[in-house]
Amino acid sequence: MTVSDLMRALLQDSYGEARDVLAFDDIPVPEPGEGEVRVRVHAAALNAADVYIMRGRPTIGRLAFGLPRPRQPIRGQDLAGVVDAVGPGVTRLSVGDRVAAEGDGALAEYACLKEALPVRVAASLPLAEAAAVPLAGVTALQAVRVGGVRSGHRVLVNGAAGGVGSFAVQLAAANGAEVTGVCGARNAETVLSLGAARVIDYAAEDFVGTGPYDVVVDLAGNRTLRELRTALAPDGTLVLSSGNGTPMMGPLWRNAAASLTSPLTGRRLRPLLARTSRDEVGYLFSRIARGDLRPLIGRTYPFEEAVEALAHVSEGHARGKVVVTLREE
Ligand SMILES: NC(=O)c1ccc[n+]([C@@H]2O[C@H](COP(=O)([O-])OP(=O)(O)OC[C@H]3O[C@@H](n4cnc5c(N)ncnc54)[C@H](OP(=O)(O)O)[C@@H]3O)[C@@H](O)[C@H]2O)c1
Repeated sequence: MTVSDLMRALLQDSYGEARDVLAFDDIPVPEPGEGEVRVRVHAAALNAADVYIMRGRPTIGRLAFGLPRPRQPIRGQDLAGVVDAVGPGVTRLSVGDRVAAEGDGALAEYACLKEALPVRVAASLPLAEAAAVPLAGVTALQAVRVGGVRSGHRVLVNGAAGGVGSFAVQLAAANGAEVTGVCGARNAETVLSLGAARVIDYAAEDFVGTGPYDVVVDLAGNRTLRELRTALAPDGTLVLSSGNGTPMMGPLWRNAAASLTSPLTGRRLRPLLARTSRDEVGYLFSRIARGDLRPLIGRTYPFEEAVEALAHVSEGHARGKVVVTLREE
């Protein structure tokens, strides 16, 4: 197959807000290097992480994202599409494979990825749904595992309506837990439909006094460690998986304080830095195929409106996953 020399991509060359720093441009289609495949991108799903990198916040993150601008200029980290070229040494994937992956540069017509990253997508799973799974789905899976969520547990998910939360509620409920989801009123029905036993509207009620909970999964990052601890049962587990925190350091101090004080409290305070693995994405796909998990896609945008999609996620009130469609299947 031949492709034209140029592709459309959403690029940024300075840190800031979506409408100020993102712009489309035509750039060379990348060639897959040794051990890489090139994916013709059909769908990209957005994450809170895209917003952190776009804004360069927390500022300490710029040491990793790039100084004085993002090292990887193309935003987007979750994608699904079809392999259209393979580099030397690639053995696991072939041209024509439908795949999804957490991989940089998703908001472009083509992306080159290490062969180890993409997971095959069954014909029954639309690529837009597959794109929604890797980063958020695996984070939720690891949060539920780190929390040791099991049958009979009372579990609270703070931030239940978002990308990670919508997976976490389903996974915890599927483990037999009684799940309470904290979300805005407009998302209450949605969170109940995912398997939560009850919801708490954060604008109307403070969840801190509603426990005790065996496991609290904090995705909102808007409460102090002390408040979150108060909501826990004496032998409960707190999973800290929010990237929110101070503009300079993000959640760093809170996570450090959790690790240091955990042995003194009798409770387990566990910061989570999720790492997406191919096996776990494949496991989530198998659960979706079995019908006991579904990606919740709150909004879909065409590629031309990707800036608006990122502006929407930046507001911090996305329902489930936000997906950008680059091509119809
Ligand atoms: N540890 C890791 O490795 C890892 C990996 C992925 C993500 N994360 C973190 O997980 C968090 C969630 O990510 P995401 O992708 O799910 O974000 P998202 O899709 O943008 O979701 C944001 C959600 O937060 C909810 N929210 C806003 N204010 C709230 C409040 N005061 N109380 C409770 N919920 C509130 C919103 O619900 P309403 O619309 O109802 O307000 C919205 O659904 C982020 O902080 C991200 O950094 C961590």
